[in-house]
Amino acid sequence: MDLTEHARKNRAFWDRQAKSYQTEHGKQLSSVPLGWGIWSIPESELRVLGEVRDKDVLELGCGGAQWSIGLAQLGARCVGLDNSERQLEFARKAIEEAGLSIPLIHASAETVPLPDTSFDIIFCDHGAMSFTDPVLSIPEAARLLRHGGLFAFNAETPLHFTCFDRARDRISTELQISYFENRIDDMDGSVCFSLPYGEWIRLFKESGFEVEDLIELRPSEDATSTYRDWVSHAWARKWPAEQIWRLRRVRKAGS
Ligand SMILES: C[S@@+](CC[C@H](N)C(=O)[O-])C[C@H]1O[C@@H](n2cnc3c(N)ncnc32)[C@H](O)[C@@H]1O
Repeated sequence: MDLTEHARKNRAFWDRQAKSYQTEHGKQLSSVPLGWGIWSIPESELRVLGEVRDKDVLELGCGGAQWSIGLAQLGARCVGLDNSERQLEFARKAIEEAGLSIPLIHASAETVPLPDTSFDIIFCDHGAMSFTDPVLSIPEAARLLRHGGLFAFNAETPLHFTCFDRARDRISTELQISYFENRIDDMDGSVCFSLPYGEWIRLFKESGFEVEDLIELRPSEDATSTYRDWVSHAWARKWPAEQIWRLRRVRKAGS
């Protein structure tokens, strides 16, 4: 299927980045299975996904598939999707080492080569929802979910998106760009997306979702992370850098 121009750029970026990403973060991702975000806050604490046993689950932007492996070990029927073949090579190896069988799909979350209503749960943790145009990927997730299905994703908050100083490649305490900016073409070649809150909510409604929760993540006082170049502990204690939208597919799009 045809890739959008930003999906092509992000594919090239993540193919280049996969090895150093897994070297830097792979240990945190696999040693705290089912940990959300920068600070690996446990799913058992946040209870975003709920019971996963015997559910059909799609991970959008699965990277090395650490999440899908953890969920498959709890009895979920997982499928991992990623736009980067290099990331999927790490996923394939980890799945084999875990003795599991998890189908992997090399595609963009904006155009998923799977039939309608295939899944009970779709989710990602700083995965595809940070790198896709939400106007394309939100309705696509809705199409793939069964009625009553859950869509949950963790991504950058508008506050972090607005305060990140891209010239210095670090978080700041000043507003760097317009709040209404929804796309950043980074100097490293990647393209990131975020929306103002009102736009997120309107897009969810138009796509047939009801908002169940918006969880703004805050690290514990002693939390550590391998992702501190993205946000410092002091910043994330004061302001939300990441947020999990928890959405329920309740209607057909546009109705
Ligand atoms: C920051 S990594 C996170 C990976 C994984 N969720 C984790 O926690 O390690 C972002 C992932 O999103 C993937 N990605 C970027 N654009 C995508 C797209 N259009 N469709 C699917 N995956 C995409 C990248 O290839 C990369 O593996």
